[in-house]
Amino acid sequence: MPDATYQFPDGFLWGTATAAHQVEGGNTNNNWYAWENTPGKIFDNQKSSLACDWWGGRWKEDLGNAAKDGQNAHRFSVEWSRIQPAPDRWDESALDFYRDILKGMWELGLTPVVTLHHFSDPLWIYEIGGWENEKTPEYFEQFVRKVVDALKSEVKIWVTLNEPNGLVVNSYIDGCFPPGKNDFRAAFTALTHLIRGHGLAYQAIHEIQPDAMAGYALYYRGFFPKKSWFPPDHWVTGMLNRNVNDLFANAIRDGQVKFIIFKTMVKEAIGTQDFVGLQYYSSDEVSFNLLKPGELFASREYPKNAPVSPTGFIADVPQGMAQALKWAHQFRLPIYVTENGVEDAEDKMRPAYLLRHLREVWLAANFNWQVKGYFHWSQVDNFEWERGWSQRFGLWELDPKTQKRTRRRSADLYAAICKENGISSETVRWLAPEVFSEMFPG
Ligand code: GAL
Repeated sequence: MPDATYQFPDGFLWGTATAAHQVEGGNTNNNWYAWENTPGKIFDNQKSSLACDWWGGRWKEDLGNAAKDGQNAHRFSVEWSRIQPAPDRWDESALDFYRDILKGMWELGLTPVVTLHHFSDPLWIYEIGGWENEKTPEYFEQFVRKVVDALKSEVKIWVTLNEPNGLVVNSYIDGCFPPGKNDFRAAFTALTHLIRGHGLAYQAIHEIQPDAMAGYALYYRGFFPKKSWFPPDHWVTGMLNRNVNDLFANAIRDGQVKFIIFKTMVKEAIGTQDFVGLQYYSSDEVSFNLLKPGELFASREYPKNAPVSPTGFIADVPQGMAQALKWAHQFRLPIYVTENGVEDAEDKMRPAYLLRHLREVWLAANFNWQVKGYFHWSQVDNFEWERGWSQRFGLWELDPKTQKRTRRRSADLYAAICKENGISSETVRWLAPEVFSEMFPG
């Protein structure tokens, strides 16, 4: 018997999350293929190539491992460019492939959560200007109709868009995603179209499948004023919160899109979410900096004592998860943590990161907030967008050349948590002793 357990509610969904372009391999008809083949865009000019070879059937191995390890759900995405390779062409065999995965998941006891758009666009959409084109929301809606109609018997929970706010920043402000722009107006245009695309998709899903649950997955970043006594730091923190965290949610509340100095109205978006999909990785301390107008006058740095991941991408700040959950609770809807994780090839930092973040999820669930599930990013190392293979987020390690999978300590830890539907002192003592006294102070 363990001395103590952080117990989660009955029926809690425990899973991992993946995305088509990152795990399937062989996606040669989307904007990311074009980006990978443009020199200088991806770390070391690496390519997704076979990725985790899910298209070749290795989803069976990865999802089989997930199920054996006590997971009862999985979130993955369908690839638009495979299902609709050209505006006037649908590939039924691609839909059959996804139907097979879904059937396989149910057989394994994994409840599917399906994302309809996870960063990648078909080349034909890219060529007409991607999300800057005002027709793209309607094209997306047609695609969603096709997919939902084909797969509705296997799926109840749909995520329309993955991190539309992150996508806009990466594609149109930082420029690290295709089309690599640095243009606030283009960002606002794309954002408005993503919001409209989401609204149309939500309505289409409910028309075809009235009992489905639909929502989008938000990139939530924790922001804390660096000097709590200094009003300008509070002001700039508020500005970041509004433009990064609140923006999409506000549009869904009342249709108003407000981004920096730009404003518009998207009526189709009002009231279009049945749950909050929350993705949280890290946080920043923010100070006001007049010299950074391009970054909304904000200097950002990791909190001083937070452990930082090997490539400096993520700081372990569980208070940000607490803040994210509190933020999500304001909508009084079910909450799914649709992503959370850390890149850590040697798996030194992940066990503690996982436990600290899950403790916040546990606390929120025990406040009786509607926290319904947690999806760790990710089951297995996969292709990390512009950072290529330089970052390893998997519970399992992957050698992309040989396709060999190797279990990390975190896979054991997460398996014990999923099987116990909780975090027991026994498990932590055995699998993450480095964080025992923090989780169970004596
Ligand atoms: C998220 C994204 C995932 C994955 C993860 C780790 O923002 O949705 O696809 O890349 O970050 O970097």
